[in-house]
Amino acid sequence: MPNEPVTKIRLRRFAKADMEAVLGLVAQIASGEDLTESAGQQFANELANPQFEGGRFVATVDGRVIGTMGCAAGPIPSKYVLWADWLIVDSQYRRYGVASLLYDEIEKYALANEKTWLCLDIGNIDKERAAYRFHLRNGFQIVGQLPDYWGELEHLNIMAKSLISKE
Ligand SMILES: CC(C)(COP(=O)(O)OP(=O)(O)OC[C@H]1O[C@@H](n2cnc3c(N)ncnc32)[C@H](O)[C@@H]1OP(=O)(O)O)[C@@H](O)C(=O)NCCC(=O)NCCS
Repeated sequence: MPNEPVTKIRLRRFAKADMEAVLGLVAQIASGEDLTESAGQQFANELANPQFEGGRFVATVDGRVIGTMGCAAGPIPSKYVLWADWLIVDSQYRRYGVASLLYDEIEKYALANEKTWLCLDIGNIDKERAAYRFHLRNGFQIVGQLPDYWGELEHLNIMAKSLISKE
């Protein structure tokens, strides 16, 4: 646990110099496979592509990267939608509101780019309780499920949040 209350969280755009720290966060995701290679490739491609439609952010405390999250057009692009991805907070800094701050930044980015939906895919909601509870709390709902997508009982759940009030 941090020794002092986490009061100095800063948010900024992801930069090339953050790659190692962010891949260190990716390595914290409980997964049977090494996700750092695919994540590193994706982040490098984004940095190299001036046309990249999306944003990636880091949260820092005293200059140290303690959280990250991005959004992109994703594999089924629509001009109304961004897909959130790679939301990870350092295990030492969870439940301090870091992910909520990152989400605020992503939503601001999405609204500034005239998007009306944020979507994400989430794996096994029985195992990934923190991620599932976090997204429910932040206004997301499960809008679809592909059963056994990644293997027996490993469903793909799609969560979505409308960014515009329908009232
Ligand atoms: C999910 C994750 C990003 C949440 O980050 P965080 O900074 O701890 O989240 P916040 O502090 O902003 O939490 C906001 C609210 O979400 C809910 N929440 C967050 N973590 C939770 C948990 N472990 N259990 C239940 N609810 C939780 C709570 O309502 C919380 O508010 P509270 O602390 O006032 O009760 C973090 O646990 C994480 O990095 N997990 C591993 C990677 C991962 O699963 N990423 C998501 C992939 S879809």
